[in-house]
Order: sequence, then C-alpha cells, then structure tokens
Amino acid sequence: MADNASVPRPHHRPTTKAVIPAAGLGTRFLPATKAVPKELLPVVDKPALQYIVEEATTAGITDVLLVTSRGKTSMVDHFDRRPDLEALLEAKGDQRRLDAIRHPSELAAIHSSRQDEPKGLGHAVLCAAAHVGDEAFAVMLGDDLIDERDPLLAEMLSVQAERGGIVLGLIEVPREHINRYGSVAIEPVDAPETPLFTTVKITEMVEKPSPDEAPSNLAIIGRYILPPEIFDAIRKTEPGAGGEIQLTDAMARLASEGTAVHGVVFRGRRYDTGDRGDYLKAVVQIACDRADLGPEFRQWLVDFVRSELDASVVPGSDGGSE
Ligand code: UTP
Repeated sequence: MADNASVPRPHHRPTTKAVIPAAGLGTRFLPATKAVPKELLPVVDKPALQYIVEEATTAGITDVLLVTSRGKTSMVDHFDRRPDLEALLEAKGDQRRLDAIRHPSELAAIHSSRQDEPKGLGHAVLCAAAHVGDEAFAVMLGDDLIDERDPLLAEMLSVQAERGGIVLGLIEVPREHINRYGSVAIEPVDAPETPLFTTVKITEMVEKPSPDEAPSNLAIIGRYILPPEIFDAIRKTEPGAGGEIQLTDAMARLASEGTAVHGVVFRGRRYDTGDRGDYLKAVVQIACDRADLGPEFRQWLVDFVRSELDASVVPGSDGGSE
C-alpha cells in the first residue's frame, strides 16, 4: 500500500449518510427467512434492523439507504407510519406502544434502492452510488449489533473526519475463526487509546483467509466508513470468492491506488446475529440486560440452567454427565 504522502485529503464535510445492504438471501435462517427478511427477525421485541438504524442516528447519521431486493420491501414499511394502528392505540390510551410504533418512523430519512440479484456485498454497495453522491458514507451490516453504550460508529466517523480514506471496524477473534471474516495486517499509529478503541493503520486486507495464511487474528466486522471513490473501485472489481463482487477486493484496489486505510479495534459489547446459534446468544444477552424484562428473565435463566445441570447428573455418580 502507498505511504501517507499520496493519501487523499480527508473529506471535511460531516458524514450524514449510512447504507445498509440488506438484499442477501438469508439462507442460514431458512425457513424463517423464506417470506420474512432476516433483518426483520426480532431481537427480543425489535427487528435487528431497527437496532442498526438507531445506532446510526445516535452517531449523527440523518439519512439511511436500505439496499433491498424482491420480497424484502417490508423492511422499508417498518420505518413508515401506521396511521390505522396509531389511531387504535391512541383510542385505547396505550401511550407506550404508540411511542414504540412511531419511534422507527422518526429516526432518520429512510430511502431504499434495489439490488436485482444477490451479486455480492460490493455490488450491493454500488447500488447506493446515485444516492450517496460525492460524500463519505457509512456501511452497516445487519448481522453485527453494537451496544449503544459502546459507540463504535461515532469513533470511526471521528477517525475518518481526521484522517480521511477508509475506516474499518475490527475485532480480535480466535485464529481458527478468522476464515469467516476479512482479515487485516496492521501498524500502530500515534493516536490516543481507550479501553474500548485503538486506532491502527491497515497495510493489507484479505477476504476469508485460512487461519495459517491470515495476516493477523483481527477481523473486519460489519462497520465501514468509505469514501465516494469506492464506487469506481467496485465497478472495476471482477467477481471474486463465490462469484460475488467483494467489497474487500474493491477496498484493496483503492488502497493500492493510495487511499489511506485505518481500523478501529473494538473491545466493546457486540452481538452477532448472523447464524442461528449466535442469534440465540444475542437474544439472551440483550434480554438479560433489559430493565423491563431482565430481572425476571435472568432469574428464570438461572433456574433453567440449574435444572439442566441437575438433570445431567447421573444419580450415584460423582457428578459426571454421561
Ligand atoms: P451475508 O452473506 O452475511 O448475508 O451478507 P445473507 O446473504 O443475507 O445471509 P446468508 O449467508 O445467506 O445466511 C452480508 C450482508 O450483505 C448483504 C446481506 O443482506 C447481509 O446484510 N448482501 C449480501 C447484499 O445486500 N447483497 C448481496 O448480494 C450479498
């Protein structure tokens, strides 16, 4: 990658747009996702997508583009008003639920764009080109939920405002899991470190490497800040792994042309909802943390786990679980 001398000047306009690619097929959740978009599966009592839009607006994003596809337009409906339901709840005097259904429509200006075929994440991002125009923008994937108390996106936006170029969200993962992610090689930078965040310079990116070939155990998660030049880079990118146009390949191309790439290593609370097992864990973690549901649910969970452990103890043994 090029050195800092050829790095484009940072974009000084504040980043106000986020793109949420949500046109994938959601095959890991079939049959649930045959007619219901994966992004609308509830995490406790809110669709995963609402958490993402809330995270965006908390970080100062005011304009959100959902990249959708056939059968997934209900995602846009979730952020629309429901005057019939509002009138009913108003007549009943149910203010709590009234607020809950109005809230999504008040978060941001929601737009949508369609991806005609699932040709990959890079191609989905390209579907946002006309809407984004000549500005840096955030890309947020619905499989990663970031706890609102640990504001990763705001940190990434401030790194981008200062340094320009591309900024990626990173986490450390066990090396044997790195083949599920994009992996990066890094160098330290002179920036303050906090318990939650470390800013690093990225010198190499590889999509889904084998554990022995990965440049590190730092994985790219579903948060990116990208400059508008990414669109041309995607247009020039040939289909890669799985016949899809990979965003990582387009970012690597931009980097090779001199764009600075930084990462924010995140050590905060993140919930993965990408597959069934991780989704179940996310629901339990978030439910335990909720002020309204948590105390009772936690107690139930403790009792449930105890009874499971008791049931697995063979009478007369020393506690083995055969
Ligand atoms: P994933 O591959 O994780 O999501 O893509 P998926 O395809 O929906 O789910 P599975 O793997 O079949 O279970 C990461 C993100 O990129 C979007 C997806 O919607 C998801 O949010 N995506 C992926 C697109 O929008 N278009 C694509 O062509 C591919």
